[in-house]
Amino acid sequence: MKSWQVSRHGEPEDVLELAEVPRPVPGPGQLLVRVLGAAANFPDVLLCRGTYQVRPPLPFCPGVELCGEVTETGPDVTGFTPGGRVIGGAELPAGAFAEYALMDAARALPAPENLDDAEAAPFHITYQTGWFGLHRRANLAAGETLLVHAAAGGVGSGAIQLGKAAGARVIGVVGGPRKAALARQLGADLVVDRYEEDFVPVVKEATGGRGADVVYDPVGGEAFQKSTKCIAFEGRILVVGFASGVIPSAALNHALVKNYSIVGLHWGLYERLDPAAVRACHAELTKLVAAGLIRPLITERLSLADVPDGLRRLAAGTTVGRLVFQP
Ligand SMILES: NC(=O)c1ccc[n+]([C@@H]2O[C@H](COP(=O)([O-])OP(=O)(O)OC[C@H]3O[C@@H](n4cnc5c(N)ncnc54)[C@H](OP(=O)(O)O)[C@@H]3O)[C@@H](O)[C@H]2O)c1
Repeated sequence: MKSWQVSRHGEPEDVLELAEVPRPVPGPGQLLVRVLGAAANFPDVLLCRGTYQVRPPLPFCPGVELCGEVTETGPDVTGFTPGGRVIGGAELPAGAFAEYALMDAARALPAPENLDDAEAAPFHITYQTGWFGLHRRANLAAGETLLVHAAAGGVGSGAIQLGKAAGARVIGVVGGPRKAALARQLGADLVVDRYEEDFVPVVKEATGGRGADVVYDPVGGEAFQKSTKCIAFEGRILVVGFASGVIPSAALNHALVKNYSIVGLHWGLYERLDPAAVRACHAELTKLVAAGLIRPLITERLSLADVPDGLRRLAAGTTVGRLVFQP
């Protein structure tokens, strides 16, 4: 089968090589799936660079999230029949940027019927992260103001839709007019182009000086620092990621004086420590899809050959909406 292999670390476009490799064999607890759609995620870039929290042994195939058709089950796996459509994470080194991938049967979830293969591929990490962040960690309430950074990006786009579904007013921060248009299309009530204006005064003005109740921050660096200037009394800043490459330091005296919380979010840990909560979240998310309240916005349906260029553009911050590779 065809598979993108990383044999040395570096930028995706430099180190990814398309190779012909044997189809992986599902071990105990695993599923072999035919990849129907593989989503592009920032961690795929970090995996290529060797800077992700997980460093699979070389060579490996990246691609952390997919929609696949079950073709074979491991020796002790029950509850899955060949032909079923599932979503979830891939078991590296047999990642999703290939014709076939391995999945952990305990973590694979049924693909929502209302989503096609490309839409189902990025329906896992983004929406689970958004749901756990906004509801379980930040207790977002209807009527509150939610500020979302990188709002046209992977996790940001899901946070806009989930914020609206929860009855919040959503302000999105994006880089450039194409992303601003997409954030509006996703449902943001107010959009700030960070190249054109500073979001701090915009948030203050939009909230009558109060500030945002919840900030969803996958960017870090300056986005975090400036968020502390427009966070509301008893507000919650969700630390989701550091796409800017800068891990900021927090001034705890400032958090004390203004009565706000800095809330960490590592969704992957829920998969390990509270898998029942992940399944319950999936059931909620599936209902929200059926109700027409959330739906991944796929801007580029690409082929397997497009993986290096797609990841290069994702790393450069120039992609808009979700990219899905379909072998
Ligand atoms: N905590 C968790 O459990 C969890 C789960 C999933 C992902 N994440 C993390 O969330 C982050 C975002 O992942 P994603 O896949 O959704 O990526 P993404 O948002 O699609 O891409 C990153 C975006 O960050 C923005 N950005 C701002 N400053 C930037 C800079 N200096 N360089 C590059 N981009 C910059 C850009 O959007 P604008 O130009 O529009 O600002 C860019 O499009 C990653 O750090 C990822 O590891 C965390």
